[in-house]
Amino acid sequence: MTTLRAYLSGFGNEFATEAEPGALPVGQNSPQRHPLGLYTEQMSGSPFTAPRATNRRTWTYRIRPSVTHKPYRAAEAKLIRSGPFAETPTTPNQLRWNPLPTPDEPTDFIDGMVTLAGNGDPAMQTGVAIHLYAANRSMQDRFFYNADGELLIVPQSGRLECATELGILDVVPGEICVIPRGIKFRVSLPEGTARGYICENYGLPFRLPDLGPIGANGLANPRDFLAPVAAYEDRDGAFRITSKFLGNLWEAEIDHSPLDVVAWHGNYAPCKYDLASFNCINTVSFDHPDPSIYTVLSSPSSIAGTANCDFVIFPPRWMVAEHTFRPPWFHRNLMNECMGLVFGAYDAKAEGFVPGGMSLHNCMAGHGPDAETFERASAAELKPHYLDNTLAFMFETQLVLRPTRWAMETRILQHEYFECWQGLKKHFNPTGNTAR
Ligand SMILES: [Fe+2]
Repeated sequence: MTTLRAYLSGFGNEFATEAEPGALPVGQNSPQRHPLGLYTEQMSGSPFTAPRATNRRTWTYRIRPSVTHKPYRAAEAKLIRSGPFAETPTTPNQLRWNPLPTPDEPTDFIDGMVTLAGNGDPAMQTGVAIHLYAANRSMQDRFFYNADGELLIVPQSGRLECATELGILDVVPGEICVIPRGIKFRVSLPEGTARGYICENYGLPFRLPDLGPIGANGLANPRDFLAPVAAYEDRDGAFRITSKFLGNLWEAEIDHSPLDVVAWHGNYAPCKYDLASFNCINTVSFDHPDPSIYTVLSSPSSIAGTANCDFVIFPPRWMVAEHTFRPPWFHRNLMNECMGLVFGAYDAKAEGFVPGGMSLHNCMAGHGPDAETFERASAAELKPHYLDNTLAFMFETQLVLRPTRWAMETRILQHEYFECWQGLKKHFNPTGNTAR
């Protein structure tokens, strides 16, 4: 059994890695007999005929092929929900939630997932589901894969050890990981507990955004995305695989660990990324670029420039704009914004938006700085200012995010959220003297 932790860098690159010498065939994908007695299995993450730039596939060389499990049976989904999201009418109100509490019962990463909202439908390969997770024990003798979409995991507290078919990713708060559709994995919690956010992407896989006039460099750079080297388990025993398929959970018994890939090559692989590597670009004169300037990864829709989902971050950065209200101004957008906070404070909110919490501002819902932030930022001295100790992020999506019944009935919903704007006073003066 090898548990090597090392990484290969480059997003969407063709990687090649072997945990035992000679496990990776040389010069061909499908030898008649593998020199180490391994089975050959290809995983396709795109149609065979997808353009080269978006084509994703990986060849694996494994102890047993993936078909060697017992039949799947329906399993309890607990608080995981899936598209189409129609449990409860969707309110136009601004919504905000407190962090998910640590569970009282022993709860692993899968059982600790709670669906907050979503859109689209996995059957149509469109849309996303937004989940929170809070767990207090490692997955034991259990593996998971998701046929409905890839998982973009944003830890907020607690390290995750994600042992995947293609190797091991250690992910800490401040980093993200992406586990492609279909790849089996097991999450262990070296620190005992963990909490965070998940975007389950039913649509086209997340990719790096085009940079346009920014040029060849900037924002998230491909070299900073790390894929695991091959690491396999040669373990027999009684295990179960949980599958998410077409909105439901299913379980099957298997008599060995499915994490038995000894070598692989390809570009369909899990990866992680340290958000501190993000090359943040913003104004050095005045006013605000739109928050799309902070896009880390984007899942495109079929409409140019209209994301099925963008993953956007608001990291520590210098604020230097002159004669400008520096926090985000009030706005109402077509796109739908679900925001979370990994650590620190967000510059548009004085209080109430805390690490582990989440807010949702759907299509055309007015939002922006709260009254306290408005007053402070309107009067602030505009020296260069380093916005430190903050890491907020946004899942922004073209379709309205419909909260689940749980999200609307849970005790962590902040029914008083609207009050943060009620103190915004009238300052209008037709004679133009706006001194306050
Ligand atoms: Fe917004």
